Amino acid sequence: MEMLRDADIDLTPLVGKRVAILGYGNQGRAQALNLHDSGIDVVVGLRGGSGSSFEVEAAGLEAALIEDAVADADVVMILAPDEIHDSLYAEIEPRLRHGTAVGFSHGLSVRFGFVRSRPDLDVFLIAPKGPGTALRSLYQQGKGMIALWAVDQDASGNAAGIALAYGRAIGCGRAGLIHSSFAEEAEADLFNEQAVVWGAVPEILSAGFETLVAGGISPEVAYLECIGELKLIAELIEARGIAGMREVISNTAELGAFLGGKRIVDDAIRARMSEILAEVRAGRFAGELKDEEKSGYARLEAARSKARLTQIEETFRRLQSVADQSAG
Ligand SMILES: NC(=O)c1ccc[n+]([C@@H]2O[C@H](COP(=O)([O-])OP(=O)(O)OC[C@H]3O[C@@H](n4cnc5c(N)ncnc54)[C@H](OP(=O)(O)O)[C@@H]3O)[C@@H](O)[C@H]2O)c1
Repeated sequence: MEMLRDADIDLTPLVGKRVAILGYGNQGRAQALNLHDSGIDVVVGLRGGSGSSFEVEAAGLEAALIEDAVADADVVMILAPDEIHDSLYAEIEPRLRHGTAVGFSHGLSVRFGFVRSRPDLDVFLIAPKGPGTALRSLYQQGKGMIALWAVDQDASGNAAGIALAYGRAIGCGRAGLIHSSFAEEAEADLFNEQAVVWGAVPEILSAGFETLVAGGISPEVAYLECIGELKLIAELIEARGIAGMREVISNTAELGAFLGGKRIVDDAIRARMSEILAEVRAGRFAGELKDEEKSGYARLEAARSKARLTQIEETFRRLQSVADQSAG
């Protein structure tokens, strides 16, 4: 695996070029500000009546309507939600100049056919491996976030140069850029979201909390045990790896983790993980995402309302208010 850093990457393909960032949400805000601070000419493209235009201008950035922003851009980065990339791309395509480079920060819409680009365009991926808030704060600290990069269409012959220069300008070259493909990035990312960090981990934390409370442990103690220690293990794994993390915990915790962890994550869980990967690859989740958007996000709204009313959230709020009072 080749990891490219700032010193390996030429910024020239972006120098004197105009970059339109479409969307000013989690990634859009971070990438627009990082590009601007790297000296790149940036315009943020927003839909008519967008509530974000004031925030864009207050941050010292140029805001424009999407159709105007893309018309004179050399690079167009699509940073609106994945499930609307098809309609957004259909809207902008007639306005894109011959040879424009179109970028994404997630491979989903290209991998699963939401977007099929005009043959004269470059199509590239710069996928930072973390949220936009962290991408921005790392940049401000002089650090960066690892990103995957890929090219799906190389009409100009220099799509890779543009992708890498873009990755460097948002700060990812400080940490490292790893070559991938739209398919690999999309499949691995969707799998992780569903089966590992974002899907399974919160569910296992909740299940542990509920088991302890049902067993007569107070909600506060159950919360501190099952959820409060997550940050500590995440930091240890980040700094030392999984084996290194185990070396610095007590023998009691290490033996317990060795015996208990294997009982919880058994072959049945691995089989369901394989099922999820197969479904992701077959495009089933991409279809569900599109259906969710068409329904006005009915399932997501219902799940969000329900989650706020659970005992685990009440306990979180109680512990947080005690912590706030102590800090004040
Ligand atoms: N969240 C992350 O940190 C993260 C990490 C890695 C990769 N990514 C990828 O980055 C991309 C953006 O994700 P995100 O989480 O940053 O998105 P997001 O925060 O949900 O994006 C919100 C922005 O998109 C605009 N938008 C929403 N619907 C629109 C529409 N129909 N037409 C035009 N603009 C619209 C919003 O406009 P208004 O301002 O008018 O409301 C807002 O500016 C996705 O491909 C995602 O997979 C995200």
